[in-house]
Amino acid sequence: MVDQPWWQSTTIYQVYPRSYADSNGDGIGDLAGIIDKLDHIAEVGFGTVWVSPFFSSPQEDFGYDVSDYCDVAPEYGTLADAEQLVEQAHARGLKVVFDLVLNHTSDQHPWFQESRRSRTNDKADWYIWRDGRGKGGRRKPNNWRSALEVRSAWQWSEERRQWFLASFLPCQPDLNWWNTDVRQAMFDVARFWLERGVDGFRLDMFGAIMKDPQFRNNPIKPTSGGSELFRIWRRDFTDNTDANIDLAHELREVCEEYRDPERVLIGEVFGRHEVLRRYLGEGDGLQLVFLFDFLMFRYSAEFFRRKISAYEALFPPPFQPTYVIENHDRTRSIDRLGGDLRKARVLAVMLLTLRGVPTVYMGQEIGMSNTYIPLRDAQDPIARHYFSWVPEFVSKRLPERINRDEVRTPMQWDGSSNAGFCPGGVEPWLPVNANAATRNVAVEGGDPASLLCLYRDLLRLRSECAPLHSGRLRLLDGLADGVLGYERNYEERTAVVLLNFSDDERRVRSRTSEMLLASDPVAHLRDHEVLLPPHSGVVLA
Ligand code: BGC
Repeated sequence: MVDQPWWQSTTIYQVYPRSYADSNGDGIGDLAGIIDKLDHIAEVGFGTVWVSPFFSSPQEDFGYDVSDYCDVAPEYGTLADAEQLVEQAHARGLKVVFDLVLNHTSDQHPWFQESRRSRTNDKADWYIWRDGRGKGGRRKPNNWRSALEVRSAWQWSEERRQWFLASFLPCQPDLNWWNTDVRQAMFDVARFWLERGVDGFRLDMFGAIMKDPQFRNNPIKPTSGGSELFRIWRRDFTDNTDANIDLAHELREVCEEYRDPERVLIGEVFGRHEVLRRYLGEGDGLQLVFLFDFLMFRYSAEFFRRKISAYEALFPPPFQPTYVIENHDRTRSIDRLGGDLRKARVLAVMLLTLRGVPTVYMGQEIGMSNTYIPLRDAQDPIARHYFSWVPEFVSKRLPERINRDEVRTPMQWDGSSNAGFCPGGVEPWLPVNANAATRNVAVEGGDPASLLCLYRDLLRLRSECAPLHSGRLRLLDGLADGVLGYERNYEERTAVVLLNFSDDERRVRSRTSEMLLASDPVAHLRDHEVLLPPHSGVVLA
């Protein structure tokens, strides 16, 4: 097809290793399990597998707290398994992206163990240490908050009688990237995996790495109430600094040492769209940044139209918007849709026909839903340490789940006990959702009307149809209320996508003559008029 870098037209499937497939019956997913399931990923039609961290780790934050970047946690397998994963994925034509946690390590990492010992050891400056203010230095160095907002990012260390910075959890101290040895050591980590053939990295908390070297206080966001309790700090001196944008370019240069194929960098960065765009530079920074607005979508044609229009303006070709509807941190989309599978189908059609790189979280393709787990049973450190005080009757009703366990329950492969994730009789690390008996890969794979088959059909269409694969996007104007439409154009060819987000049937005039795909069998095209049942989507040519 069209000559463009592979990552511009790929589709990403995120695997959370702990929950994907357990090959050795210990109730925890592992790398050999993922290898066994690569056929599923390839058959559905995804192009790239992003694997969340499986490196050595005390698992306080389930792998996002790394204690050795160049080895594998024993519960997930061995280094040889990681190499096999890359090889086996490539054998199936899949690209592989690993998750690189650059901002912080685990406090169990030997670097931090050494660093915390004294103010003078070899690694003394590898983390962000500061003297405190006030008598005895027991007042925090400044007002920087952790990403969770509810608490300061500073942690006291009795050994050094100093504060260290931890922008996420206290057990995840931030590396000091101003130190060139740190920088080189972390670049070598990237090289270690690039040499083993990985096709790139998803960059965890990338926006927060280079903090202000002068440690200036973050300014307070003006709020209407002005109450002390609800003060919110901007993150001018901790996030998306100019030095951080420069770092994107430096990391890209490291990747450029390994061409053929080109390696991709995908940033987890938060901020205004214009700020996110800066990470891509002139095509010499990160190649992609996740766009998280869709994670908390409002299910309406207007919402999506507004976002798509903004992204198209900011990321014109050859840049690509990177759409995310679900991930391992946020509520499952089907729960945001009140469980309505028709709506999940509309979103699938949209996600896989937009210009850009879609990201699909494991289980999204079969409509997996949140599994309610009370806060008192949480394994997720955020729920356990920070929000365990939230009364259960409140937590239960929150649309955004506090307990991330609820979106990390085992992948539902079949209707057997434990859903085929691990052998029956073994207790999986998180409970299997009760709907696994019917909502699973085996059942849906055999049902042409299932969500899984729709994903498969859409991904096939996307790879075969040049306009969907590589075409430009133009939003259509003047459509009926509740209908979102766009054209994808490639050379002389055009595909048209119409999505009805409303509760009523809609009719739309169209110059197209062929229906390539419909999310609802009742949809049809007759005499240049498309009939769209409520909550349905079609692709036409
Ligand atoms: C990851 C989280 C993780 C955090 C700290 C993120 O944004 O997606 O799962 O807990 O970074 O590494």
